[in-house]
Amino acid sequence: MIDAAGLSTDAFKASAGVSAAAHLHDGMIVGLGSGTTAALAVAAIGRRVEAGLKIVGIPTSEKTADQARLLKIPLSTLEDHPVIDVTIDGADEVEERSLNLIKGGGGNLLREKIVAIASSQMIIVVDERKLVDRLGSRTAVPVEVIPFGWKTTAERLKCLGAQPVLRLRSDGKPFVTDGGHWIFDCIFESIQAPRLLQAMLDSTVGVVEHGLFIGIASMVLVGGPGGVSRLNRDPAE
Ligand code: A5P
Repeated sequence: MIDAAGLSTDAFKASAGVSAAAHLHDGMIVGLGSGTTAALAVAAIGRRVEAGLKIVGIPTSEKTADQARLLKIPLSTLEDHPVIDVTIDGADEVEERSLNLIKGGGGNLLREKIVAIASSQMIIVVDERKLVDRLGSRTAVPVEVIPFGWKTTAERLKCLGAQPVLRLRSDGKPFVTDGGHWIFDCIFESIQAPRLLQAMLDSTVGVVEHGLFIGIASMVLVGGPGGVSRLNRDPAE
């Protein structure tokens, strides 16, 4: 997408990625996110590694692992590094005041959340289109489920107020995550009580994980026509 000044969304995403990569220091264990914006951040990290930065990356998807290997970013696992210094990842929606997120548009939410929760700091990189006043305004919440009993799990999700839509591949078969699960994209419209919804999804049998990231992001870097702006979490939220 190109705006009136001839600047593209990709340029905004890339500038947020470069800004995030500038937060890294030698010796850090770094969670590497997934999605198109995170890929631009990983590219910026790759350039810093080529210039001599010494870090170890923990990828959140097979695709990110492949990209990092090509860029010669040293990789490891959560088993070897259970505590991560900082994770850099994208998001589908960012609630401006709370920095609560919806993630998982690319289908990597389970590994993304495991890596995020293991991180001392989580930096989110987005372009300004991702900012919303209230979560769920534009984006469905991805909910990763066990294929066994998927129809009964869908009925449980409906009882929580969701309209669940099974995510399909272009050949009409269910989209399968890196963990071998399926995803329901759940439309909740505006989410009034994200912590309550999180608790209800967490306790729904058949649900493996969901794309609500509540109270996890520490900082959001937003690329836009005026450059990159930084949002910090309001401690009152
Ligand atoms: C991947 O599963 C997601 O959580 C992505 O981080 C999110 O969908 C944002 O992706 P884009 O940067 O491609 O919009």
